[in-house]
Amino acid sequence: MKTLVEFINDKQADFTYASGEFSRLLNDIGIAAKYVHREVNKAGLADIMGYEGTQNVQGEDQKKLDVFANDQFIKALKHGGQCCAIVSEENDDLITYDNQTSNNGKYVVAIDPLDGSSNIEVNVSIGTVFSVYRRKSEQGGKGTLEDVLQPGTEIVAAGYVIYGSSTMLVYTTGNGVNGFTLDPSVGLFLLSHPEIKIPDGGNIYSINEANYIYFPDGVKEYIRYCQEDDPKTLRPYTTRYIGSLVADFHRNLLRGGIYMYPGTKKNPNGKLRLLYECNPVAMIAEQAGGKATDGFRRIMEIKPEEMHQRVPIFVGSKHMVEKAEYFMNYYSKDFKPK
Ligand code: AHG
Ligand code: MN
Ligand code: MN
Repeated sequence: MKTLVEFINDKQADFTYASGEFSRLLNDIGIAAKYVHREVNKAGLADIMGYEGTQNVQGEDQKKLDVFANDQFIKALKHGGQCCAIVSEENDDLITYDNQTSNNGKYVVAIDPLDGSSNIEVNVSIGTVFSVYRRKSEQGGKGTLEDVLQPGTEIVAAGYVIYGSSTMLVYTTGNGVNGFTLDPSVGLFLLSHPEIKIPDGGNIYSINEANYIYFPDGVKEYIRYCQEDDPKTLRPYTTRYIGSLVADFHRNLLRGGIYMYPGTKKNPNGKLRLLYECNPVAMIAEQAGGKATDGFRRIMEIKPEEMHQRVPIFVGSKHMVEKAEYFMNYYSKDFKPK
């Protein structure tokens, strides 16, 4: 079976900006993911081994998993020297580097290092989500805000890692979607899911329905549609909601389904972040034959105004997202961005 490293190297030639630098960056993300996998897998041992408090048995500072994951990805990207700036969910400000190698890097990365934090301590799937852009500013200086505030259409690679019953890395460079499963016994990601296509005839809808009373009428009506009896269209659909975007999205990508985090009157932009949650899954969905919108606009065409901007999202199988969009347009025009 092909390894991630072999696959990235093989594909290098197909890529518009064929360069070893880009491959190196993707490989570095894969390496950091393995360290996070290792920590995630022993998270339950923390108490038993006396790893609680501020120091572990080796006298090292013990960090929460999301902080650990953040440090790993930042370190890996710094070490590789291809990346000149990072937007991370864990850092209010843009991360730049003081070394010349990184300032010569051609790429910027947006990342949610640990997604699904409420699931960490209960042994439920969590993830990492990222996207990579080419910088706009000149090489040699620090990365800038302008480099990271690019619409999703400018992304050169997007992916996620899911730390689930197995650990997988799924990514796209705009030429289809491929998934790799980590074989922990040898520490290699192996190509297990080549050319992933999202089934269009899915029957799963994923939404935090506890927020129902706050949802726009379009979402309420769509949920009612999902629950209607029509066996020809697989309805009533079934609900699956983990509360980790990566895990919910991954399941729907393989099985066919829709994930929704809509805006409400109180939070018109929903909860999820455009740069490092919505855009990467939107690009993967599209590359797998699916769709992602905010109910009205294609997610990937939204021009970001700030690093941690939130945006409503409907993502997954094409016909399901289109149906949700239809209901939003019919019942909730007032939610349409001006
Ligand atoms: P994070 O852990 O990175 O803060 O993200 C959590 C996100 C996302 O993963 C998940 O789908 C969503 O929050 C769940 O939100 P609710 O608890 O409001 O349903
Ligand atoms: Mn998240
Ligand atoms: Mn997070």
